[in-house]
Amino acid sequence: MRIIITVGKGGVGKTTTAASLGLALRDRGYSVLVVSLDPAHNLGDVLNFKSRSSRMKILDNYEIIEVDVDEAVKKYLDEVSLMIKSTFKHLSVLNIDKYIDILSNAPGVEEHALMSEFKRIIQENDNKEFIIFDMPPTGLSLRIISLPFIHRSWLVELKKLRKAILDRRRMLKNIGEDVGEIPVDESSDPVMRELDNMLKECDFLVKKLTSRDTVCILVLAPETLPLLEAERALRKLTSLGISVKGCVVNKVLRLREPIPELKSKIEEQERCLSEIRRTFKGMTIVEVPFLEQEPRGVDALRRYANYIDSLVESILRS
Ligand SMILES: Nc1ncnc2c1ncn2[C@@H]1O[C@H](COP(=O)(O)OP(=O)(O)OP(=O)(O)O)[C@@H](O)[C@H]1O
Ligand SMILES: [Mg+2]
Repeated sequence: MRIIITVGKGGVGKTTTAASLGLALRDRGYSVLVVSLDPAHNLGDVLNFKSRSSRMKILDNYEIIEVDVDEAVKKYLDEVSLMIKSTFKHLSVLNIDKYIDILSNAPGVEEHALMSEFKRIIQENDNKEFIIFDMPPTGLSLRIISLPFIHRSWLVELKKLRKAILDRRRMLKNIGEDVGEIPVDESSDPVMRELDNMLKECDFLVKKLTSRDTVCILVLAPETLPLLEAERALRKLTSLGISVKGCVVNKVLRLREPIPELKSKIEEQERCLSEIRRTFKGMTIVEVPFLEQEPRGVDALRRYANYIDSLVESILRS
């Protein structure tokens, strides 16, 4: 199974690209699942699909999922609550539910919940040949993608701390102190066990994200701000060891005749296009023109796919 992730500034065409890329791969005979991890979904709208549920079959071998973020946060907090309750059984005097309530409003919970969904979806759909993740705008996407990497180094430190606590307890026990029922060894310590489980999950995700079978596609418009965001995303993803396969320069204005009011816009576009060729040298760069009609529905997305054909081919070759 291969994973493709579309990343870029708000409104540049990530969802359109994800849906169209999925269709192009499906039309080449692959089974494809496109997943929207954006809290503000419009994957179904882009496909002009009327009926609404979280998982929808658009065509044979072409399904989409719009992850319900509120539901994902709730599921994530339920799992965390269960884990805390079983790990800290001996602290039942504390009102753990009160802490879970606080946690539900803690910063970062949405990112954790979405990463958890990312993991669940790839584990539950390993019969698919391609899973394409349509991400929220760059900032939130990068926070979600970075999580397992940050979490992993944090867990390694927490394990060291826990080991030191267990060493102390064992020392006290060895000199005859009454340490009660609390665990003194790593093997019998539920906290250490849980830290190990979490570390295993992070390792799984880091391995998936940095695998050769996972690629990011940057989507941008030929304008200064989307370009700056795409450059930042490229630096961040590369520093994490995630492969960036190519970029889609969408909404390129091609005028049949010059329009004086658009002169400076066209100049900015040309400046950005040469900067894009420099920055993303070595990657597959495809251009999609600004289309007269918004590319929505299967037919329009197939036409959009013609413009990104060389990107599809380069993904298939790699
Ligand atoms: N080449 C194009 N020409 C004209 N309109 C386009 C083109 N590509 C996309 N659009 C339109 O631009 C709008 C934004 O596209 P899309 O939803 O794919 O962007 P997005 O990056 O996913 O946005 P968001 O960050 O809000 O999720 C949509 O209305 C879409 O139909
Ligand atoms: Mg979108």
